[in-house]
Amino acid sequence: MKKVLPVTRYYGSKRKIINNIWEIIQNEQLEFDSVLDLFGGTGTFSYKAKLEGKQVIYNDIFKFNSLIGKALIQNNTTKLTKKDIEFLTTKHDHIKYNYYVKDNYENIYFLDYENELIDIIVQNILQLKSPYKQAMAYYALFQTTLIKRPFNSFHRKNLSLRTRDVKRSFGNKVSWEKDLVGTFQKFCYDINQYVFSNFKKNKSKNTSALSCKETADLVYIDPPYIAEKGSHVNYHSRYHFLEALANYNDFIHYINYEKTNKEVMINKSDEFETKQFIINDIKKIIEKYHDKIIIFSYRNKGIPSPDELKEIFRMYNKEFKEYILYNHYYALNKSNKELHELVYILRSS
Ligand SMILES: C[S@@+](CC[C@H](N)C(=O)[O-])C[C@H]1O[C@@H](n2cnc3c(N)ncnc32)[C@H](O)[C@@H]1O
Repeated sequence: MKKVLPVTRYYGSKRKIINNIWEIIQNEQLEFDSVLDLFGGTGTFSYKAKLEGKQVIYNDIFKFNSLIGKALIQNNTTKLTKKDIEFLTTKHDHIKYNYYVKDNYENIYFLDYENELIDIIVQNILQLKSPYKQAMAYYALFQTTLIKRPFNSFHRKNLSLRTRDVKRSFGNKVSWEKDLVGTFQKFCYDINQYVFSNFKKNKSKNTSALSCKETADLVYIDPPYIAEKGSHVNYHSRYHFLEALANYNDFIHYINYEKTNKEVMINKSDEFETKQFIINDIKKIIEKYHDKIIIFSYRNKGIPSPDELKEIFRMYNKEFKEYILYNHYYALNKSNKELHELVYILRSS
């Protein structure tokens, strides 16, 4: 079993600092048996908490992420076999395939033959009887499609960045051109190594943070980050195509044909995603869990500012502590020299 989750190319992942966050939790001598990871994303916090023997509830607004939570957090024992992986990557005569991706996304994100393979793999996934195996295979497909995308994102129709024959000073052409089936198989074998049981009943949920009905001794809050400068690209824009794959049988009814990237509108929400409402949403979430231990991940130069955020904490929790993590990655990037990660520990008074 692996100790830290693999690199996943997901915006805002806390993979690089998860051990620092856990050290802070230990230094603070926080006592808790259960955790709720409200904005779960790649599951780094949930996975660490699972490793540490806690009962874990993973949550994310997107179904594709909750499938990752199901594969890694809720799943204690199921693994993909060689036979499963062969089944997933074969076109079967007895299945009548639809070609929703190939028919609707020509020249947008992937090459034609890749779109067809994506259609086939998803529908093979849906044939698997075990929901855990389905979730694991979906994980592999999400990683495969992300790795092959310029900027690891679906917010632009920009397949031409891959196909144009020009000299590039950016991106990773080698990853974009990786064989889709081989990459998918590799991710299937990879995820098997991350499955383990901590003998707790862990679960994966798929709700918006403000409507989540779950609770736990400790709540980890890592909301979308809205930079004070520039326009905000929300999670839905970045990853809507993965949400489409997670809802394969329905998604064609939700395609917005007015957008050149044919955004799929499933689970699009403004909650925690607009400059206008983020402060109010943060107030609501802090109030909701005011009697729990809260770990709040943040960055400076955002909306709200750290000072405004601390003002909100003061409204609901008397005691909080601020930790600043100077991240190696940001130190290398000159324009973001002063950008750093913040971790707040809030205890109920
Ligand atoms: C900063 S990322 C969390 C990253 C995560 N801690 C990790 O290490 O991968 C924020 C996450 O919140 C999710 N999200 C966005 N709006 C949400 C909402 N209203 N409720 C729940 N999750 C939301 C996004 O899908 C994204 O995965």
